Formats: sequence, C-alpha cells, structure tokens
Amino acid sequence: MAPLPSFPLTLSFLFFLFFTLSSSSSTPLKKTFIIQIHKQSKPSIFPTHQHWYQSSLSSISNATTPTSIIHTYDTVFHGFSAKLSPLEAQKLQTLPHVIALIPEQVRHTHTTRSPQFLGLRTADRTGLLHETDFGSDLVIGVIDTGIWPERQSFNDHDLGPVPAKWKGQCVAGKDFPASSCNRKLIGARYFSGGYEATNGKMNETNEYRSPRDSDGHGTHTASIAAGRYVSPASTLGYAKGVAAGMAPKARLAVYKVCWNGGCYDSDILAAFDAAVADGVDVASLSVGGVVVPYHLDIIAIGAFAASNAGVFVSASAGNGGPGGLTVTNVAPWVTTVGAGTIDRDFPADVKLGNGLTIPGVSIYGGPGLTPGRMYPIVYAGVEEFGNGRGSDGYSASLCLEGSLDPKFVKGKIVVCDRGINSRAAKGEEVRKKGGVGMILANGVFDGEGLVADCHVLPASAVGANGGDEIRRYIGNSRPESPATATIVFKGTRLGVGPAPVVASFSARGPNPVSPEILKPDVIAPGLNILAAWPDRVGPSGVPSDGRRTEFNILSGTSMACPHVSGLAALLKAAHPDWSPAAIRSALMTTAYTVDNRGHPMLDESTGNVSSVFDYGAGHVHPEKAMNPGLVYDISGSDYVNFLCNSNYTTKSIQVITRKGADCSGAKRAGHSANLNYPSLSAVFPQYGKHRMSTHFIRTVTNVGDTNSVYKVSIKPPRGMVVTVKPETLSFRRVGQKLNFLVRVQTRAVKLPPGGSSVKSGYIVWSDGKHTVTSPLVVTMQQPLD
Ligand SMILES: *[C@@H]1O[C@H](CO)[C@@H](O)[C@H](O)[C@H]1NC(C)=O
Ligand SMILES: *[C@@H]1O[C@H](CO)[C@@H](O)[C@H](O)[C@H]1NC(C)=O
Ligand SMILES: *[C@@H]1O[C@H](CO)[C@@H](O)[C@H](O)[C@H]1NC(C)=O
Ligand SMILES: *[C@@H]1O[C@H](CO)[C@@H](O)[C@H](O)[C@H]1NC(C)=O
Repeated sequence: MAPLPSFPLTLSFLFFLFFTLSSSSSTPLKKTFIIQIHKQSKPSIFPTHQHWYQSSLSSISNATTPTSIIHTYDTVFHGFSAKLSPLEAQKLQTLPHVIALIPEQVRHTHTTRSPQFLGLRTADRTGLLHETDFGSDLVIGVIDTGIWPERQSFNDHDLGPVPAKWKGQCVAGKDFPASSCNRKLIGARYFSGGYEATNGKMNETNEYRSPRDSDGHGTHTASIAAGRYVSPASTLGYAKGVAAGMAPKARLAVYKVCWNGGCYDSDILAAFDAAVADGVDVASLSVGGVVVPYHLDIIAIGAFAASNAGVFVSASAGNGGPGGLTVTNVAPWVTTVGAGTIDRDFPADVKLGNGLTIPGVSIYGGPGLTPGRMYPIVYAGVEEFGNGRGSDGYSASLCLEGSLDPKFVKGKIVVCDRGINSRAAKGEEVRKKGGVGMILANGVFDGEGLVADCHVLPASAVGANGGDEIRRYIGNSRPESPATATIVFKGTRLGVGPAPVVASFSARGPNPVSPEILKPDVIAPGLNILAAWPDRVGPSGVPSDGRRTEFNILSGTSMACPHVSGLAALLKAAHPDWSPAAIRSALMTTAYTVDNRGHPMLDESTGNVSSVFDYGAGHVHPEKAMNPGLVYDISGSDYVNFLCNSNYTTKSIQVITRKGADCSGAKRAGHSANLNYPSLSAVFPQYGKHRMSTHFIRTVTNVGDTNSVYKVSIKPPRGMVVTVKPETLSFRRVGQKLNFLVRVQTRAVKLPPGGSSVKSGYIVWSDGKHTVTSPLVVTMQQPLD
C-alpha cells in the first residue's frame, strides 16, 4: 500500500488542482445568472425586449457554444436569465444597459384541525369566514411543487365564476390537460428552464413536465391555504374529521418551480413575474435558501415588486431551528412565518422490558405489533460501531439505505438515531432487512421536538431524554436477559396542552441581515398538519411505499406559511383597501404569546419559555386580526428609506426597486429601525459606553372607529427605561394617521467579549376595545475587543 502523502504535499497538490481548474479556458464552468437590464434603454431597432436581450447575449458569447435565454422577466424585474461562463459574465457586466448580474441560488422546500385551533368560527353566521364569503374573490398564488388537481380539496362546487380581473392561464403539460383547472384552481403554470439549465433535461419517468405535483409538498401547502371542506378526512385513520384550508373559497393559482433536486432562482423569479401579471392577491412561498443581502436575494427582489403591486407575500421561516440566527426569507416586505404546534398529537408509547414507558409519536396505520408481546430491541448505533452515545453525526447516519445487516435486525425492534432527514426512509430500511419495528430516537441536537411520520412499519419517534433512556437500557442489557420492548399506538389525541408550543425545528431570530427588524414575524400551525396529498406518492414519501391516501400529515414551516397566506386572503377580502403591510400589521399586533393553559408559550426543543426570537409577535389570531383597531402601514418609499438607512448603495437599491434611489433625504430622516414596523428591535454595541439610548418613530393608522382614544401601556425590558410620547392618541376619523416616539434608555451590562444580552418587553395601545401590541426587543452586544 502506498504511503499517504504528507500534509504539506496534499495541500500543494490540492492547490495545484484548483489552480488548473479555474484557469482552464477550454472547460469554462457555466453558471446561471439573473441579469437586470435598464428597460428604457432598448434601441428601437429591436421589436421586443427578448430580441434585444438575445442580441446582447450573442454579442458577448461564443459562437461555438451559443448561450440562450432561460427566462425573460417583465413584471417584477426587467431582464433575463442565462447560463454564462465567467468570461461571458464579465463581458456582459460591462455593457452599459446592464445593471446587475445576480448569481443563481438553489432553494429547497421547507418541509384538520387547524381552523378550529385558530379560532376561526364556522358554525355561526359571523366572523372572518362568513364576512368574507370564505375568501371567494381572492386569488392565492402558491409557488411550490405543483398540484394534484383531482383532490376533493380543489373541487369547485358552488363557487362563482372566475374573478373578472384574473389574467392567468391553465398551462397544459404531461398528464395535465388544460381542463385540469376549474373555478377553484384557476391558474397553473410551470417553470423548469432554470432547473434544466443546471441539471440537464428533466427525467420524465420521475416527474411531470407540467403543473402536476410528483412530490406532494405543493398539493399539501395549496390545500392548507385554500382547501375546500372535505369530510370525512384522515390519513391512515389518524386525524379524522373535516379537512379545510384557511380560505376555503379563495381561488388557487399554482406556479410549479420545484423539481427533483431543488427550486432554482431563475424559475422562482419567472413565477413571481407571472403571478403578479396574472393578478394574484397573495403569493405563498414555502421555499428558502441561504440568507444573503436583499439585492442578491431573488425571493426578496421578486417579493418587493409584488408587495408594491399590492400582493401579500408570505414565506416560511425555514426549519433550521432551534438555534439562533437561523431564520430565512427575512426581507421586511415579506411576512416571515415560523411554526407552532396545535392541540392534537398522535401518541405511540414505547414500553421497555424494564417496565419504563417512554412517550413517543407516530402515524402508523398498518398491522401492529402483537398486543402484549415483547420484542427483542437493538440499537443500530451500538452493535456495529461500539458507540453508545448516538447523538454524534456518525451514528446518526445509521439506518440509511443499505446500512443494516439482516442478521442483526431480523425480528427485532431497531432503535435508529433521528439525524437531520429521511425519517420514514430509515423505517423502510429496517422493514426491508426484516425488522419488525423502529424507534426513531432524538439526539442532543434534536432535543425534545417530535415529528409524527406515516411510517411503513410500526414505529415511534421519541425525544432525546427518552432516547437516552432506551439506549442506556439496551447498553446495560446482558445476553442472559436481552433487552425487549413494544410500541403501543394510541391513535389521535385532541385537546392536548400546552399548545401552541414553538416547534423545535422552527427557524429563529435574530434576523441575520437586518437585526433591527424582528423576524420571524409570527408563528402559525406547522406541526402534524393534515392536508391534501397526490396519488403518485405514498404518505411516507418513500418511493417503495405503495399506500395511497387522499390526505397526509406533514410538519414544517412550509405548512405554517400557507396558513398565513390563506388568512391574508381572508383579511384582504374583509379590507380590500389594506396594503400587504397593513395586513401583516393586523396579524402581528393581535397575535398572542400564551398557550391554552394561559402560561407563556413554551419552546418544544427545551420545554422552557420561548422568546420573541422564536415567535416574533406571537401566534396568529385571525378573528382578532380582522378588527385590529390600528395598523402600522408601510409604503414602497418607506422601504427605500429603510434600505438607504441600512447602508445599501443606490445601485443595490435600484436592483431591488428598479428605480434610481435618492438616499439624501432618508439619511437625514434617521435610522433603519424607524421603518414603520409593528415590532421594535434595537441593537446596542457597547463600545465602552455606560449609558445607551435609542428611539423609534412610528405612525399608526386608525382602521377602527371614529373618535377613538388610545392610551399606551408599556412593559419595559428588564432594567431599561422606556417612554412613549405622546401617551394618548386621539383619532377623530377612520384613516387618520398619528405619530408617536418610543425612547429606550439603558445602562451597559457586564458581558464577555463577543457576548450579548437580549431583553424584551412590549408596548400596547388600547382604546378599551382593541389592543394593539408591539414586541420591543433590545440586544446589547460586547464587541470582541
Ligand atoms: C470561445 O471559445 C474558445 C475556445 O473554445 C475560447 O478560446 C474563447 O476564449 C471563448 N470566448 C468566450 C467569449 O468565451
Ligand atoms: C430516469 O429515472 C429512472 C427511474 O429512477 C431511471 O431508471 C432512469 O435511468 C433515468 N433516466 C435517465 C436518463 O437518467
Ligand atoms: C431551561 O431553563 C432553565 C432554568 O432557567 C435553565 O437552567 C436551562 O439551562 C434551560 N434549558 C435550556 C436548554 O435552555
Ligand atoms: C450605516 O453606516 C453608518 C456610518 O458608517 C453607521 O453609523 C450605521 O450604523 C450603519 N447602519 C447600518 C444599519 O449598518
């Protein structure tokens, strides 16, 4: 065997490799860029912008490998996307009418009882649903994996004609005739150019080149936002009842952008472009990626123009929790939605041979284990690698496809570590190798958060503490008395408390791009949500799963986002003149932060009290949001001032707004925390100062009653002095705006270098009838040196 090269040699060898790769001109690595163009500069000799763009491309690209346009954009953005070599990109950048080249990012999807849990009243004749006719005139655009149009959730019984303003289309494609649309599903398009530019031609045995959903995620999210009433609904007998989306009569338009392997920015921007031109009222995006500054973030760019056109954009916060700074889709013109639990769960207890019972959850509907019988139990991590801890990355990769030995698992219940993904696929591996059951045990990084899956064999998910108990029991067992266990499935349990609890996976603040904007904005139900499911995929999502269900139960901020999308449609139906910012304000200032026991909302990952970085303003309360009293409105120019005050260059701002920006006025007007946001967030770097203070200027618009008088009450963050001036706001008429100023003063606290201290409170305006609550969070940071 050849000796391993010494470390320095390896390094220089690697360096050499990189050097030759990047300097090689014969194999230029092409990448997709989204190119912004000065729309007005089009020379008149070109009949269309498309001709002009193509000619610009030809002028810089190599005739032997012609570059073609992937998409042109004309509504939320001016320009096109194309795959370019580094040299081509460089040349294009020098053309006078080219404003910016934005490198493409690949995004991923952030993978019923929820209407009742949210307090939406259906039985009586008042309330948000009835007063808005269930959102009947509104159109929700779902940018996702497509749709399975035949599901009952998308039937159009008793719906009126398609709203007259609608300009969208039902684009036909593979297994999706144009007749797939109806008065419920009024639009369907698909965008695959960006995906195929990177991955080559789509493999049509695996997916549909059409709006039809081969994944399930888009069907699920669309029906959460606007599914019709379907009864009885359940998954494998679990969660039986009436299934309904938030706005059961709102119309749906789907924009398929996610394919096997991801959702590409160039396609996402094309979807935004089409959705706004088609006339959607709400855009729902349960997709996210790496957080970058707004002028490099295609979702932020598309959402800015959409929002300026009056389209409410809600997006999932991401599933990167419970760690801090994990929240995504953080632009202040996007409503960022985290996930909470609902008061329903699916208990499946693990009973151990030593008499202990470990609580778990599961959705398993097949033949169970023999009642009363105990089965031998083994830990996949211990036997093969002699490592009993199970929370490190190595053993967490166990139970992946092909990893288990039938001799080891046959006839046994197998304990697998949860790891980051493919929970149901681990069960499939156990089943294939002859195991009779599986326990999916969290490690320390997973904490106590549990997600119920539609397993392909009897299986239960348990938390880190329970998992350690089980691993210890197995580790201490002896050959003469082998470890045994069974799983007892208890079906669906309702009225569970405490709820809501912030879901363990829900991504958390602070906001990594703009710390002075608190994100997420709100949380909504995102754990174990029942919604429609395509016929092409089994409920576990495992390819070999032959079961078919009309509904499936999924978890993620992906499921929370469309709840807010549907609610936004209802609010817009109730208040057609409200801007997207006013709708968000109504949702935020009426949100709650206590659970169904009346205690502060907890964090599923720790069992401790959660914070504003976990839930933002709190959990949405739709009936209250219909009548918030006051709203914090924001205009397009307010956002421009915010960008100016956040030190974005005028060129970067132009990429987002498509207009030249003049920041001179904004700079004088103050700082970025003065954006008229419904929450207040201040960051104090403690550069040797003893006292620090800041202020926020806010403007509220009366959307309640004439002649109403609001008084402020303040709960300052601990140890701080907060004053509000004036303390009373007297409105004579509806639509009237009044300003106030919030001043926060504090002393420096002792912190280690690089340390920070976060304290929160709130301010509340009330006229005795409405309460308008804004969280106030102050972060003190000790510089590293
Ligand atoms: C075109 O390709 C040739 C060889 O393939 C290369 O030498 C040349 O630099 C390329 N030009 C551009 C603009 O990429
Ligand atoms: C397409 O996918 C199928 C099923 O996964 C596979 O058998 C086939 O080889 C793939 N075709 C191509 C061209 O990759
Ligand atoms: C939960 O709260 C307790 C008491 O404040 C604290 O000691 C503990 O560290 C917290 N746990 C976590 C995981 O944050
Ligand atoms: C913008 O730059 C100014 C001057 O350097 C600085 O004081 C301010 O804190 C910066 N603002 C933000 C939001 O980064």
